[in-house]
Amino acid sequence: MTATENNGIRVAALDDIPVGEGIAISSDITGTDDDIALLRDEDGSVWALNDTCTHQVASLSQGWVEDGKVECPLHSSQFCLKTGAVEGLPATVDTVPHKVEVRDGEVYLFPNVRP
Ligand code: FES
Repeated sequence: MTATENNGIRVAALDDIPVGEGIAISSDITGTDDDIALLRDEDGSVWALNDTCTHQVASLSQGWVEDGKVECPLHSSQFCLKTGAVEGLPATVDTVPHKVEVRDGEVYLFPNVRP
C-alpha cells in the first residue's frame, strides 16, 4: 500500500486509463478477493468494479465503457459503473463497486468501500 486507508491506495495515473476502456489492479495490491477493474467512462470519470464478470470468468477491465456502463468482452453483459447492477444479460448477478477518487491526476482506490 502506498497511502493510508483514509486516503485510499494510489493505483494509477489518470492518463494510464484510456477513455472508454479499463485496466485491472491486482488483488495483491487491493487486498480484495478479486482483482479490481478501473473503468473510465466517456465523460472522463473513473469507476471501480470487481474485475471478474459474474457470468463466467471474463475480465471487465477488457470490456467497453460508455454511457455509465461497462460491457463484458465475452458475452456482452452490461453492468452499471456506479452500482455494479446488471443492466444487460446474460449475467444475472450484480457485481461489487468500490470507491474511487481522482486527485491531482492520480487515481486512488478504496477497496470494499461503496461509492
Ligand atoms: S463472461 Fe461476462 S457476459 Fe459472459
